Amino acid sequence: MNWKELYCDKLTTADEAVRHIGSNSRVVIGHAVSEPTAVINAMVKNAEQYENVEIVHMVSMGQSPYCLPGMEKHFRHNSLFLGASTRQAAAEGRADVTPVFFSEIPQLFRTTLSVDVALIHVSEPDQHGYCSFGVAVDYTKPAAECAKTVIAQVNRNMPRTLGDSFIHVSNIDYLVESDDPIIELSPPKIGEVECAIGKNCASLIQDGDTLQLGIGAIPDAVLLFLKDKHDLGIHSEMFSDGVVELVEAGVITNKKKNFHPGKSVVTFLMGTRRLYDYVDNNPEVEMYPVDYVNDPCVIARNDNLISINSCVQVDLMGQVVSTSVGLKQISGVGGQVDFVRGANMSKGGKTIMAMPSTAAKGKVSKIVPLIDEGASVTTSRYDVNYVVTEYGIAQLKGKTLRERAQALITIAHPDFRPELIQAFEERFHSKFS
Ligand code: COA
Repeated sequence: MNWKELYCDKLTTADEAVRHIGSNSRVVIGHAVSEPTAVINAMVKNAEQYENVEIVHMVSMGQSPYCLPGMEKHFRHNSLFLGASTRQAAAEGRADVTPVFFSEIPQLFRTTLSVDVALIHVSEPDQHGYCSFGVAVDYTKPAAECAKTVIAQVNRNMPRTLGDSFIHVSNIDYLVESDDPIIELSPPKIGEVECAIGKNCASLIQDGDTLQLGIGAIPDAVLLFLKDKHDLGIHSEMFSDGVVELVEAGVITNKKKNFHPGKSVVTFLMGTRRLYDYVDNNPEVEMYPVDYVNDPCVIARNDNLISINSCVQVDLMGQVVSTSVGLKQISGVGGQVDFVRGANMSKGGKTIMAMPSTAAKGKVSKIVPLIDEGASVTTSRYDVNYVVTEYGIAQLKGKTLRERAQALITIAHPDFRPELIQAFEERFHSKFS
């Protein structure tokens, strides 16, 4: 059979496709904005068919209906990174969390967490029968490669992204056509605090540097202050609409990259339709699985790699907490440690941890003498270098514990400095200067 005949043979409805999910099986869902909404909705609509199906997913940008109260008998979510639609289920004990570096998820699927069914979302096939994974290649492609059964939503709205981002129709078991809009992430609100942080981060970035940017208001604020830089490059686990703006402004050219020159290298994307149109069939952007893009040794092959990530708390030794508030898990490590390690090994690289100095509407300081009870350290004090708030930059590597604490107190919110200074003086038996 040629691929067109195969395609017709495998074409089915969402309701029919999800009948091939068995009770007691493990289902992996395509990441972030690539989740195949039509197939997920059919699975949840037919929940009575299943018992004890484990749903493995990283960040869910959809509704995660399998996490709703009442779904426990049918589905149990195993989250690799909690998001808005899954936090509640985890907090109430109706979902589990598996800590894992983003770069190691593909290996987990190949070894420990065998994949029964992969639910993926792909572009229409090209003339050779290849569908693109579009906005998420990351663990989604590796999961499809090792799944016993692959169910794909084929969508004309999914951009055809290039790189190692394709699956042939012959490797998909059931195809469901549904042209839902790809989930969009509206640009975050950037306030005064984020702008000040963005400006401080931008002061650490030189012409020709290669950037990794996380998601949210802070990375977007950094981009606002890069408009007068030249020939920046991208090697990042993800990027959003802010990067498109800088490409159009001629600031991001990837020209000075010593590794994958001329290309923005990325493993998943989240943004608006503007971003999805930009990456469609665009040879400037190459997507690869996350065990390549986020491998610290691959990251380190980029000279002058600047990683910018955010966190919840930093203690006076420079230990960084990013995934929980006390015992309450709010997110996951994602690629934070992958990129911190890669940037530390990159010639001329820098690793930046950027955060507002306070949280909870200014009621708590993010810089603290000791991390909260129950919190776990995400990035260790050995790896952290630049910590940035709206009040400045603390550079930690090479500094003693006493010097680190002093540097961090000077970028804390002024309202919290007196108590931090008191903790400093008790601990180090010396005056704060
Ligand atoms: N004490 C108490 N509460 C805190 C807190 C603190 N120190 N820091 C944050 N919070 C609360 C916030 O108030 C907010 O609560 P709300 O949802 O009720 O408003 C919640 O925790 C989330 O914090 P916020 O600062 O809004 O998060 P964010 O969207 O800016 O994301 C991280 C920040 C750290 C959670 C996010 O960057 C992350 O998960 N990082 C790890 C993964 C990573 O870096 N990946 C690589 C790049 S994609």
